[in-house]
Amino acid sequence: MAPTPAYDLASWRARIPLLGSLIPMNNCSQAPQTDITRAAAERYLDSWNRSGMDWDAWMEEIALAKQEFATLINASPNEIAAFSCVSEAASAVATALDFSGSRSKVLVTEAEFPTIGHVWLAQERRGAHVEWVPMRDGQIDASEYDARIDESTAVVSACHGCYMNGFMQDVGAIAERAHAKGALLFVDAYQTLGTVPIDVKEIGADFLAAGNLKFLMGVPGIAFLYVRQELIDRLQPLVTGWFGRSNPFAFQVKQLDWSTTASRFDAGTPPVVSAYIARAGMSIINSIGPKRIRPWLEVLGQRLIDGGADRGLTLHGTADMSRKTATTAFVVGDSHAVEVTMRRHGVLPSARGSVIRLAPHFYNTVDDIDVALDVLTAAVAAS
Ligand SMILES: Cc1ncc(COP(=O)(O)O)c(C=O)c1O
Repeated sequence: MAPTPAYDLASWRARIPLLGSLIPMNNCSQAPQTDITRAAAERYLDSWNRSGMDWDAWMEEIALAKQEFATLINASPNEIAAFSCVSEAASAVATALDFSGSRSKVLVTEAEFPTIGHVWLAQERRGAHVEWVPMRDGQIDASEYDARIDESTAVVSACHGCYMNGFMQDVGAIAERAHAKGALLFVDAYQTLGTVPIDVKEIGADFLAAGNLKFLMGVPGIAFLYVRQELIDRLQPLVTGWFGRSNPFAFQVKQLDWSTTASRFDAGTPPVVSAYIARAGMSIINSIGPKRIRPWLEVLGQRLIDGGADRGLTLHGTADMSRKTATTAFVVGDSHAVEVTMRRHGVLPSARGSVIRLAPHFYNTVDDIDVALDVLTAAVAAS
């Protein structure tokens, strides 16, 4: 019998108009619009039009978006801050850490999205010393961390999933290694959240950041940061503003009173418009549940790996689905040209460097995978 997901695939597909004209396989970059996220955007526009302004409703929407994110990762809403992008979230964390003493090492993996490397490198002016965890053959062996984490390590920065090829790390094991030497762990979960069950308490992460436009079915302009409750009191980011205060609406210009929650990491007027859509997108993921999404993405991911091999495509990174996110990457050379050709033939992939990434999500079918692989094979042959 053909495999099927543990949820009603057809009814979810009916909520994504783009499926009428294209096969989106670019969730590692931008998820498609749903009727639910569209309605949320319209709710903001209607409120703006009808009420002129509604700060109470906007603040409520930010709080509910934080709540939705907290639910996704098994955190408390008080452990969540909101930003406009992951770069800002990472910078807020980085600037809250002290690198002036003997703990000045920042261990960063070569699998990170460049922005994360940039944020940590910028801390070298503040005494940090960046050391890299190497990626070999598109993967990182967990033992690479052993020799590098020591008593001089302030923080380990490890992505859960690698943006380039979908390699997935055991961040729980990294947390154990970091904590054993007194170091903190910052996790970039942008490429996994929404597709894999993530429990920050189980992982033991100190910080976890993710934006919304990829597998969380949202839009640009908003990202969230989890800060472990026990750390909040100790940290004061150098990037701040009125929303980092215990009561932003007290308007006390001379008082830098830090919020007692992770809101101390918030800065200025929050990304209200994006929050409407982000909450709706995350509610889709929470209602289906990453526990039910992941098994389906393992079916589709294995189909990509096997189907790519059958067609002679060159896989980038591991072929072990248990170590992979929803994304599978193939080496193609001029990836931009291949992306343009594929789009013309009805499939939306995502090009990065020399690879084409195919990143299905909960709504994709086995047929989608087969068509995408055929179109990719033809585009590579034509390029
Ligand atoms: C893993 C990962 N982290 C971070 C980013 C970018 O973060 P930002 O929200 O700062 O653009 C991306 C991609 O856009 C990504 O894939």
